[in-house]
Amino acid sequence: MREVLAAAPVGNDAYREDEAVRSLEDRVAELFGMDSAMFLPTGTMANLVAVSVLCPRGGEVLADQESYVLASGLGGLATVAGLQSRTIHAVRGALDAAAVRAALRPAGWGVLPTSALIVENTHARSGGAVVPLPVLAELSLLAREHGIGLHCDGARIWHAAVATGTSLKAYGALFDTLTVSVSKGLGAPVGALMLGDAERVERARQVRKQLGGGWRGAGVLAAAAEFAVLNNVARLREDHDKAAAIATRLGRQPMINAPVETNIVLVRVRDSVAVHRACARQGVGVFRLAPDLIRIVTHRDVSMERCLEAAEVIAAAIAQ
Ligand SMILES: Cc1ncc(COP(=O)(O)O)c(C=O)c1O
Repeated sequence: MREVLAAAPVGNDAYREDEAVRSLEDRVAELFGMDSAMFLPTGTMANLVAVSVLCPRGGEVLADQESYVLASGLGGLATVAGLQSRTIHAVRGALDAAAVRAALRPAGWGVLPTSALIVENTHARSGGAVVPLPVLAELSLLAREHGIGLHCDGARIWHAAVATGTSLKAYGALFDTLTVSVSKGLGAPVGALMLGDAERVERARQVRKQLGGGWRGAGVLAAAAEFAVLNNVARLREDHDKAAAIATRLGRQPMINAPVETNIVLVRVRDSVAVHRACARQGVGVFRLAPDLIRIVTHRDVSMERCLEAAEVIAAAIAQ
């Protein structure tokens, strides 16, 4: 990856002059069967830009209460995109179409109509749960019937595709806008892409520029991202196997995201601060998701053997 990065043909992407960025964007759009794609620094920015072109400022979006955009987006939907959000309950990231239908507000006197629905796949705060394709298809139909936009935060959609054997195009066909990350399981140093139809992505380029995302020389990062997309998707299965192995080792704990479907394990603990500290002392990184919840994420740079060693450290820390 570093060799590809060093050899990248770069230019000013704000003027569409960067060959490596254009190559990445074309490739990812083609993989998902969508019109166009745009490269951005982060998934957070990609989501904000996507939703900004999907909804008029001052509009309303529906999303699940545990979605990344609402739970971890630090209010960006409101402060940056100027949107009001309403939450819907979801089970392992799967929104219930009937609940969404009941929550929709049509345009009318004194009512702010719903502009878009946001889904997330895989669902981070549900421990990388895969939202089933039929659920997404039903929501897509519902959104189209009611003339509202459907955005998917697909930061880890690669994992969903690998875990279920669903094609990327099958996902791409369902959404008006989609964001994907290359800097998580795929292992690129930086980056995310926003996908949609050509007109939306063109408008999104303006919004990205407004947010300071018109970047020069981005090709070095795009080349690494394209390498990751080409070489590191199928191998995500190994990360899923590692997470399953860790879950099996910790199985006596009341795990909350069983079955583990992708590369994230969530474990309820008495005191996540104490567990985090004990693990850190042994060189094992776990994330404190809540006072009583830790998150373990597997990835390409930690082998199965090291994951099993880490599981022993985590088990001992939890037992303390
Ligand atoms: C589901 C989801 N969406 C978006 C993001 C934001 O990505 P970034 O950290 O690149 O801004 C994350 C980050 O972990 C995420 O888990």
